[in-house]
Amino acid sequence: MDLTHRPRRLRQDRVRGLVSETSLEPSDLIAPVFVDATTDERRPIESMPGHERVPIAESVARVEEVLETGVEAVMLFGIPESKDPEGTRAWAEDGVVQEALGRITSETDAYVITDACLCEYTDHGHCGPLEEELRSEDAVEAGPACEPTMTVDNDATLAALEKIAVSHARAGADMVAPSGMMDGMVGAIRSALDREGFANVPIMSYAAKYESAFYGPFRDAADGAPAFGNRRHYQMDPANAREAMREVRLDAEQGADVMMVKPALPYLDIVSAVRREFDHPVAAYNVSGEYAMLHAAAEKGWLDLEAVATESLLSIKRAGADLILTYFAEDVAKRL
Ligand code: PBG
Repeated sequence: MDLTHRPRRLRQDRVRGLVSETSLEPSDLIAPVFVDATTDERRPIESMPGHERVPIAESVARVEEVLETGVEAVMLFGIPESKDPEGTRAWAEDGVVQEALGRITSETDAYVITDACLCEYTDHGHCGPLEEELRSEDAVEAGPACEPTMTVDNDATLAALEKIAVSHARAGADMVAPSGMMDGMVGAIRSALDREGFANVPIMSYAAKYESAFYGPFRDAADGAPAFGNRRHYQMDPANAREAMREVRLDAEQGADVMMVKPALPYLDIVSAVRREFDHPVAAYNVSGEYAMLHAAAEKGWLDLEAVATESLLSIKRAGADLILTYFAEDVAKRL
């Protein structure tokens, strides 16, 4: 055979590393950590094998475990001791995230990013205070059957997000990550941080966050499922890709430093489009459902967990993500 092109030449063992286009480093990974003010012992999260909610007293130990694997950054989520319609515990000086931040930042070198949102703090589980007409028991009683035309009061939520971001920065957060998909959230937080003397705290915006069923296990983990309705009035429709570019552009205009796409694997087209169109660092959130499904299949003996975890993260990088938030962070980093 007179073949000019034989791509297999470069797939031989001694050369494939030299020509590999993508690599995965522990420094690309961010590990989510759950701190729970309602417990004084570590509680495993059933749908996310290997993950736990830890009490505030264990938050430093938990972050040290992450650091030992080579991962340098964590994303902190809090489960408060109590909830109310406004989510006021989200910006309390002695709130769960604020308390944990104080300890983690004074006792470790971890780079700590905080999820700035209200869904874990409101008793109705939505990502902000509700529109006037829904502030009644009726909506909650109707449960998931309640199909409101709108849910969260956007502009009232912005005021709460400003307080949350400032309280996180004050408690030592290195970066804040608003995840509520409210219009104007990045601009509101940017000016609040600047005004309060935190001009150097970057914002990682959950810029293109979809209304996804892949968040299921997380909502158990963080106790943040909506008590009625759903999040489709603020999170994006999975059918839309151009809209994601518009969302990212708005966040760029408002001063977001890092653009996140979430979920990751079912939305790699979006990761790749954001990478092409923008010069910002791009983060992708390999969410709880993406983690849970691989674990479930591996448990049945249908998939090789280590192999599919690494392949997933590599694919997310190949699509264009610089950073990956993933529950696989520690497992994969240990092997790199
Ligand atoms: C909202 C938030 C969610 C996740 C991260 N931040 C849940 C939601 O929007 O319902 C999901 C993360 C995951 O599924 O791993 N604060």
